[in-house]
Amino acid sequence: MTRSSRSVASPYVVSIADFRALARRRVPRAVFDYLDGGAEGEVTLRENCRVYKDVTFRPRQAVAFADCNLRTRVLGFDLALPFLLAPVGYSRLMHPTGEVGAARAAGNAGTAYILSTISGHKLENVKAASTGPVFYQLYLMGGRSAAEAAIERARLAGFSALVVTIDTAVSGIRERDYRNGMKELVSGSPFEKLPFLPQVLSRPGWLASFLLDGGLPALPNVVIPGKGPMPLIDVAAALAESTVTWNDLRWIRELWRSPIVVKGVLTGDDARRAIDEGAAAISVSNHGGRQLDCVPSSLRVLPEVVKAVNGQTEILMDGGIRRGSDIVKALCLGARAVLCGRAYAYGLAAAGEAGVNRAIEILRADLDRTLRLLGCASVAELDRSYVNVPQSWDSN
Ligand code: GLV
Repeated sequence: MTRSSRSVASPYVVSIADFRALARRRVPRAVFDYLDGGAEGEVTLRENCRVYKDVTFRPRQAVAFADCNLRTRVLGFDLALPFLLAPVGYSRLMHPTGEVGAARAAGNAGTAYILSTISGHKLENVKAASTGPVFYQLYLMGGRSAAEAAIERARLAGFSALVVTIDTAVSGIRERDYRNGMKELVSGSPFEKLPFLPQVLSRPGWLASFLLDGGLPALPNVVIPGKGPMPLIDVAAALAESTVTWNDLRWIRELWRSPIVVKGVLTGDDARRAIDEGAAAISVSNHGGRQLDCVPSSLRVLPEVVKAVNGQTEILMDGGIRRGSDIVKALCLGARAVLCGRAYAYGLAAAGEAGVNRAIEILRADLDRTLRLLGCASVAELDRSYVNVPQSWDSN
C-alpha cells in the first residue's frame, strides 16, 4: 500500500474537510491556496458554503426502502450520481495524475468529468482515461484560432459537450495567489521564483513527484496556430484573455453543433438569454467565489433561475458543495445535478486518483444516507416539499 492510499483509507478521512486538511499538508501553500482561495475578501467563497445552513430538511419518517436511486440524466447521459466533476484549472499541479486521474475516477463512478482549458494533460489522454462522458470547458485563451483548434480536437477525441464559462471578462483578483507568488512560481525567472521557494522546499514529497513529472508543461490544449502550445502563464493572465461574449457564444455554437452548457449564470435574465442563444443546459455558478466577489451564493440564486427557465432547459449548479446533503438541497431547489470542484480536488491534492475516488465515495455515501433519512427513495423525487427555505427567498 502506498503512503497516499494508506492515508486515504484511514478512518480519519470521513469528510471532504478531512481531505482539505490533508491537502494543505501535502502541497505547497501556493498550490493549496490556488485551489482553496477566492477573489478579494472571499465573501462569496464563504457564503457559497454557509448558505446551505439556511435550508433545512423536512424528513418523512418511518419509511424504508431496499434501494436508494441516485441516478440522473444530464444532456441525455444516464449518470449513476447526481454530481459531475467540475473543471479545475492546473489539476496537474496538485498531483501528476491531474486531469487524467480525475477523469478516470469520474468514469469509474459512473459520472461525467469536465476538463478545464487550463489543463496540464492533453485532452485526448483525458478522454481516453474515462469510461464515462467527458465535457470540455472552453475559455477563449489564445483567441478564436486556438479555440477553434481545441474544439476540433475535442470533437475528434469524442467529447460530448462544451461548457462555456461566461463569467471571466477579466480575472478576479485572488489575493492569496499574489501573496504566495503564484505568478512567479508558474512563469517567473529563477531569480523571481527565489523568494517563494521555501514553501515549495517544505513539501519534499510533492516536489519530488512534481519534478519526476517533468514540471508543468506548456498548456497542451491551447495551441496557437504556427506557434504551438501556449507557454505556461499565471492564472490571472490566462483568464484575462478568455472573455466570452454572447457574440462569441454564437460563433462557438456554429463550430460545435453539439450540446453547449453555459456556465456562470447568476440571474434569471442571463438564464433566459443563454436559452435564446441555444444553450442545452445552464450552470448557475459564481466560479467558486473566484471571480466577482460579493455576488450571492449559487444556491441563493438557484430559485430565481429555476423560475426564469421554467423547465425549458436543464439546470446545473456549483459552489460550496462539501457534503452529499448540500447536493440534496440543490436538487430540492431545482438543479438537475451539481458540479463539484474543490470537493474532489482536495482529494486529488491530498492523494492523487485514490483521493478522488475516496472523495466521490464520501459524497455518494452521504447522498444515500441523506435520502434514506429524508424518507425519499430517489433523487428524481426530490423537490421543495423536502426542505424549508427562508421566506425571503421566495419574494424574488
Ligand atoms: C480557473 O478557471 C480558475 O478559476 O482558476
